[in-house]
Amino acid sequence: MGIFNQQKPRLVQWVLIMSLMDLCYGQIVYSVSEEVNNGTVIGNVTKDLNLNVHELESRMFQVVSGDSKKYFEVNAKNGLLYANDRIDREELCSDALKCSLNLEVIAHNPLNLYRVKVDVVDVNDNSPSFLAKGHTLNIVENASPGDRFPLPMADDADVGSNAVKSYRLSPNEHFSLDVQSGGEQSASPELVLQKALDREKQSAIQLLLTAVDGGKPPRSGTLQVVVNVLDINDNNPVFLTPLYKVRVSENTPQGTTILVLNATDLDEGINGEIIYSFLEHGNVKALETFSINPDSGGIAIKGNLDHEENSAIEIRVQAKDKSPLPRSSHSKVIIEIIDINDNAPEISVTSLTSTVREDAKTGTVVALITVSDRDGGKNGVVNCHTDNRIPFKLESAYKNYYSLVVAEPLDRESASQHNIIFTAIDEGTPPLSSTAVITVHVSDVNDNVPHFLDSELNVYFKENIPAGTLMQRVTASDADAKENAQVTYSLLDGNYKGMLVSSMVNIKSVTGEIYSMQVFNYEEVKMFQFRVEATDSGVPPLSSNITVNVFILDENDNSPGILPPYSDQGSVNTENIPYSAEAGYFVAKIRAVDADSGYNALLSYHIAEPKGSNLFRIGTSTGEIRTKRRMSDNDLRTHLLVILVSDNGEPSLSATVSIDVVVVESNGEIQTQYRQRPMKEESFSSLHLYLLIGISSVSLIFLLSVVSLIALKYHRTESSFNRYSTPVITTHPDGSWSYSKSTQQYDVCFSSDTWKSDVVTPAGCQPADAELISINGSDSFKTNQTLPKSEKVRMN
Ligand SMILES: *[C@@H]1O[C@H](CO)[C@@H](O)[C@H](O)[C@H]1NC(C)=O
Repeated sequence: MGIFNQQKPRLVQWVLIMSLMDLCYGQIVYSVSEEVNNGTVIGNVTKDLNLNVHELESRMFQVVSGDSKKYFEVNAKNGLLYANDRIDREELCSDALKCSLNLEVIAHNPLNLYRVKVDVVDVNDNSPSFLAKGHTLNIVENASPGDRFPLPMADDADVGSNAVKSYRLSPNEHFSLDVQSGGEQSASPELVLQKALDREKQSAIQLLLTAVDGGKPPRSGTLQVVVNVLDINDNNPVFLTPLYKVRVSENTPQGTTILVLNATDLDEGINGEIIYSFLEHGNVKALETFSINPDSGGIAIKGNLDHEENSAIEIRVQAKDKSPLPRSSHSKVIIEIIDINDNAPEISVTSLTSTVREDAKTGTVVALITVSDRDGGKNGVVNCHTDNRIPFKLESAYKNYYSLVVAEPLDRESASQHNIIFTAIDEGTPPLSSTAVITVHVSDVNDNVPHFLDSELNVYFKENIPAGTLMQRVTASDADAKENAQVTYSLLDGNYKGMLVSSMVNIKSVTGEIYSMQVFNYEEVKMFQFRVEATDSGVPPLSSNITVNVFILDENDNSPGILPPYSDQGSVNTENIPYSAEAGYFVAKIRAVDADSGYNALLSYHIAEPKGSNLFRIGTSTGEIRTKRRMSDNDLRTHLLVILVSDNGEPSLSATVSIDVVVVESNGEIQTQYRQRPMKEESFSSLHLYLLIGISSVSLIFLLSVVSLIALKYHRTESSFNRYSTPVITTHPDGSWSYSKSTQQYDVCFSSDTWKSDVVTPAGCQPADAELISINGSDSFKTNQTLPKSEKVRMN
């Protein structure tokens, strides 16, 4: 018993008043807190029932009632009621405010039934709790302050004052907590919006709700509350800048993205998804040139960029979100198209005249040139120039305007046309250029005289050629053009030394062909001279002249003529020789002359009959007939000798002379009538010597002449005196030759004679105008020179 009193007597609560009342009816009431330990004394039943504690055992005092029996036990020795099991009020009575257990206690002998009621008193042994661990609230961001949002209520198994009594909310700027309570209802928490939400600032708000019960000490439970702020389309898309500026080269290829628009929209989802577009309904050009990607905002080149057409293009752009109630904003894009040097300069040439006179003064304007370039800036600055090797130059009075003027004297004869290339270069990098060509023709002015190759012309023309034969053709060239170069020819002189030039030659005015007008006889005219004038058809005409020297060439047209005392065929000449004549006896000397000259006049003598005479011989060059041996008795008394005298022409011409040589007995009978003085052998030889000297002198002169000719070639420009004094030997096709000093012809005529002093110079060999070289007795060359005198006679 002492044990029970010592065991936590404060837990056992007596309800004395109730016990006293129930005592009458045999019922006692106890009260016990829930969750007391096993063995906790609940009450002294024996005492409260006024039973004798010593009798308990004998009377078999025990608890007998049903359901609640297991929670309690009565100790029969001391009569105390103990807690025998865990008593959980919440389990026994749930939410019921009053919770009590009824038990029946019996005692035998006498059998008494006692009723005991044990009230179970609540203890704050449960915390408030929420059903879920967290709670999510979705609130649109445009919810108005004052709007209410219910929160889950906490539950507390305890009852009464131990149940949930209040709520608390973690501090935050948007919400307050309102708890509805009072009367029957339990406290229910609500969120009240105090300050407007903005998803764009805070899209989720974390709150902690705490429920507190009324126990002492109080217990609490918490709930995580997440407020999701739901987006509404309350933000416009925003461009980074109200004006985009882009610079693009005009040669940027199509498809290149030149700019990416970057608008932003703070909203979420489709409210924040942006569609880009152009806002150019009127600016067709912009829409043709650029495209925009609606999703990325990339602006790309679609058409051709041409700075020259549009140096800048302005496009308005729009960004719009995809919300059903879309919001949009606008910006402007200025695309500056940068010029690149893609246009070559253009040259426009206006020819003032296609031909310019060759005597045009310097400064005469020939053409006007305009240059232009479609590019801008330096790319469009153009410089124009021409090839500087032309007698023209460009002058510029204004920028891009040039005139082509004559810069130097023109000469059609050296350049009849000029292809003038204009090159225009711009100042771009790299520069572009273009060229234009015009042809300027230089028209002729009669500024050139007809030109003969030489100032003199020597014509060699054989004698005996029929009149009307072409002798020579003269040609003068004229560097001018057309009629200025159309040359006609005419004879300038009327006569030459009394001879009418027109009776000797005729000239065809167009061709310059000179024809003979007569048959020339060398023996009469050896040389004559006239001038031919060449005149062009310009206005006024220009003319020049050439001196034509005509040398008549000797033909072998004269037979040798036998000189007296002998005469040619027909008459017989007789010579007597003595029978006793020694070998080499001089019989006769035949003398002959030839009117021709040179070889045509070089005579040789031969015995034609009898052929192969063994008695006579004749000096081939001397014409002297001599005996070969002494006469014998077998020889005939008369010998008819036929002497052939032939010249050296080709073909040779000859004459014959017959001499009857009669052999007489005595010297006294010899007729010496026709006998020539016999010639000594040495003097005979000396004649040969002279002849040889003559011919070799001529040969020497010939050699000198050749040397001089060569020298002459190198001294063409020397004075006329030199020219006149230069000897020339001409060998003619017929084998004859002539010696001349320039226009002067000298003939050396040879004949043969027995006497060295007796060189015959036939009349034909002595023309009035020619110089004769004679081999005379003193073996010297004598020259007589007469220069031709020209008379200027205009022949029309
Ligand atoms: C012939 O030509 C010369 C120059 O070669 C000139 O001096 C002369 O006057 C001319 N004569 C005539 C008649 O034209």
